[in-house]
Amino acid sequence: MAKSRTQYVCQQCGRTTAKPFGRCPQCGSWNSMVAEVVAPQRSGRVRVRTYGTSRPLRLTEIEGEDDDRLPLPIDEFARVLGGGIVPGSVVLIGGDPGIGKSTLLLQMALVMAQGGTVLYVSGEESERQIKSRVARLKQGGEAPDDLYLLTETALEAVLDHIEALGPRLVVIDSIQTMHVPEIASGAGSISQVRECASRLQAAAKGSGVAIFLVGHVTKEGAIAGPKVLEHIVDTVLYLEGDSFHTYRLLRSVKNRFGATTEVGVFEMGTSGMVGVPNPSEAFLAERVVNAPGSAIAVTMEGTRPLLVEIQGLTSASSFGHPRRTANGVDFNRLLLTIAVLARRVGLRLTDQDVFVNVVGGLRVNEPAADLAVAAAIASSVRDRPLPADLALIGEVGLSGELRAVPQMPARLREAAKLGFRRVVVPKLVRPDDIWPEELQVVPARSVREALATVLKN
Ligand code: TYD
Ligand code: MG
Repeated sequence: MAKSRTQYVCQQCGRTTAKPFGRCPQCGSWNSMVAEVVAPQRSGRVRVRTYGTSRPLRLTEIEGEDDDRLPLPIDEFARVLGGGIVPGSVVLIGGDPGIGKSTLLLQMALVMAQGGTVLYVSGEESERQIKSRVARLKQGGEAPDDLYLLTETALEAVLDHIEALGPRLVVIDSIQTMHVPEIASGAGSISQVRECASRLQAAAKGSGVAIFLVGHVTKEGAIAGPKVLEHIVDTVLYLEGDSFHTYRLLRSVKNRFGATTEVGVFEMGTSGMVGVPNPSEAFLAERVVNAPGSAIAVTMEGTRPLLVEIQGLTSASSFGHPRRTANGVDFNRLLLTIAVLARRVGLRLTDQDVFVNVVGGLRVNEPAADLAVAAAIASSVRDRPLPADLALIGEVGLSGELRAVPQMPARLREAAKLGFRRVVVPKLVRPDDIWPEELQVVPARSVREALATVLKN
């Protein structure tokens, strides 16, 4: 920890000195200097507001509004931020190592440097490595002149450079590599990460520069990661996906300047992350129609409906205890769905292994996908395909009933747009839920009823 130091203050005129004096060097009064302990300074370069300098403002006196956002020409990214970059804000991007955080932020730095100075600070890679990545991202194009690279892990030095350069945007890759000398523990420890983030937050608020922090999520979760920072920063985004698939989802879990429901979809390509404006089409692209065990769910990612293929596979267990494997759906919800299929629909699953997979490496957390999961499993057990133009929407309850889900019109429109002709929905579709004419909406009260209609052939 930083040491506190002692200074001497003249009680007559307020002059401070580092050494004690019998007579004040400023006003000349005798025996007026008294010792005072000074707490360690949090940061040399941030003007800290003290009592006496702040004053309450009328709401109408406060200038600046939402329109101050810096436009970000990466649509999928801007959507998640709530429409652009807010000056003076600190955004944390968390995610597993190798998922594409550096790539996405470097792409952002490149486009933002077209209109102002951008500083990309890396504690992980050398300038050369970053430059070669830039070459890959730009594919031979010119790199902007206003993009500065800095490889540095001492936070105070980084803050000095920010002050000297006056950029409008700073990327810190990653917060776990930064350290301040006052804290004894190593870079990446909770106290270091927290202290560095608070100083960056103060610098952002003081100067109006927008700062993006990269934070690695570690499997153990114990090592200081994005979790300990969530309350310090303004916005927390997570980049998800898995390294076997090319799709990446950017989700917001906290946003002081926008909704937290939006999701950006990207595809990791050979020259960086590319936005996917029609994710449903992309997720259904490899679908094999008329194959048993495949069902289409319509889930909502934020305000965007997303059609995804759910695959179910059942096979006779070779051991007494049947296995259940969930890939992309919640394991406990899968167990529940299997129990409902066994008890309410009468499917024989006790001697069957059940595997469920969401295509594209996607994670579906919405109960609205329950019915599709149930249908995929039932279709595999009966070895009968579901109709190719059919989608299923509905939450499954414990008695096997189908429960209504929100945002029905948006889901139905998306299904129709992608050429689906029939959608099974819970019976209780509200009268104001209107759907496209070309769509045949099949209401069902229960899973049993729904499966009887779609697997009757
Ligand atoms: P990276 O951005 O370094 O991940 P993070 O910063 O989250 O750790 O991404 C690394 C992976 O992305 C690596 O496996 C290579 C791959 N990649 C591409 O597929 N295409 C590209 O254009 C780039 C730059 C990286
Ligand atoms: Mg990285």
